[in-house]
Amino acid sequence: MSGWRDRRLAERLGLSTPIVQAPMAGAGGVDLAIGAATGGALASLPAALIAPEAIIQQISTFRAATGAAVNLNFFCHQLEPAEDAAWRDALAPFYAAYGVGYPAVPPPARAPFGPRQAEAVEQVFPEVVSFHFGLPDDTLLARVKATGALIVGNATTPAEARWLAARGVDAIIAQGHEAGGHAGRFLGADPAEHMGTIALVPQVADATGLPVIAAGGIGDERGVAAALVLGAALVQLGTAYLFCPESLIAQGHRDLLAGEAAEHSRVTNLFTGGIARRLPSPLFDNFGAVSPLAPAFPHAAAALAELRKAAEAAGDGRFSPWWSGEAARLGQALPAEALTRRLADGALALLGDAR
Ligand SMILES: Cc1cc2nc3c(=O)[nH]c(=O)nc-3n(C[C@H](O)[C@H](O)[C@H](O)COP(=O)(O)O)c2cc1C
Repeated sequence: MSGWRDRRLAERLGLSTPIVQAPMAGAGGVDLAIGAATGGALASLPAALIAPEAIIQQISTFRAATGAAVNLNFFCHQLEPAEDAAWRDALAPFYAAYGVGYPAVPPPARAPFGPRQAEAVEQVFPEVVSFHFGLPDDTLLARVKATGALIVGNATTPAEARWLAARGVDAIIAQGHEAGGHAGRFLGADPAEHMGTIALVPQVADATGLPVIAAGGIGDERGVAAALVLGAALVQLGTAYLFCPESLIAQGHRDLLAGEAAEHSRVTNLFTGGIARRLPSPLFDNFGAVSPLAPAFPHAAAALAELRKAAEAAGDGRFSPWWSGEAARLGQALPAEALTRRLADGALALLGDAR
């Protein structure tokens, strides 16, 4: 019997491997996507931090390089105004040390999926559209569905998975707490309840009957094989792809990932206000990894913007969102195409499967 039992998504998308290269805003661009797709993965282009014009441009570059399917990824958080005076006050000693202040014009906050992003989707017809932090409203979601894209939502609990299924998604990412970057939590349960990937994947599959994409703490072929045995249809890796030469991360981030610090990632709200897993930062000694001083997502990032630039230029990454998952130590600096093939071939060999 095959260890990779649920091939619904692979068949629908024409994939030769069970691998999804995770969308990673700010860290993964079109080169990483092309490399992963060439290796047989479902490639993802993160669209949360870029303008709709850039989305259209990147899809066109991707399509000039490969005929493979692509996943366009968006955030769907609630953008409420937030007061960040206490956070700015707490950062005052760092502003003084680096000779910078609160930005005169705060950078635009990460925008949730809206009509302009829907227009971009209607122009480029991605095969897959995935959403983090819930789903857009019914009207916007209907516009995306009308393009024929496969709709994927992200669940961190079985309750979120049932909520997504009730709104008609085609597949669900089961994102365990081991994952690097933001936990896509949107129904408000205590972050301390966040399940691990091994517990979450089969429960999401049982709760919904939909194809499940396993994500979180999967770092090599052993993790990929384990997720397939749990019933995953595809397996999404983020941190593993940060090691690729095509990723866009800063050298300081790359250096930390390659060393012992990679064993000490923690969840923190200091960098954006949202709960996200990051490599250790000296800032944790000042505020703890999770602080009530940081305003809600995505507002905590504005007060750090100038500090981050000045500090990074001086080789200090403490204010930078250097995300990492729990399996970072398993990472290998291979080009994305070779990494994808190695993950897929290794996992299928462990399972006694052929591609
Ligand atoms: C640097 C980084 C950036 C990320 N940005 C996004 C993003 O823009 N959209 C998204 O849906 N998930 C994002 N994620 C989460 C990934 O989609 C995925 O859930 C996670 O990487 C899986 O865990 P792993 O890092 O242990 O492989 C990001 C993860 C990392 C490490």
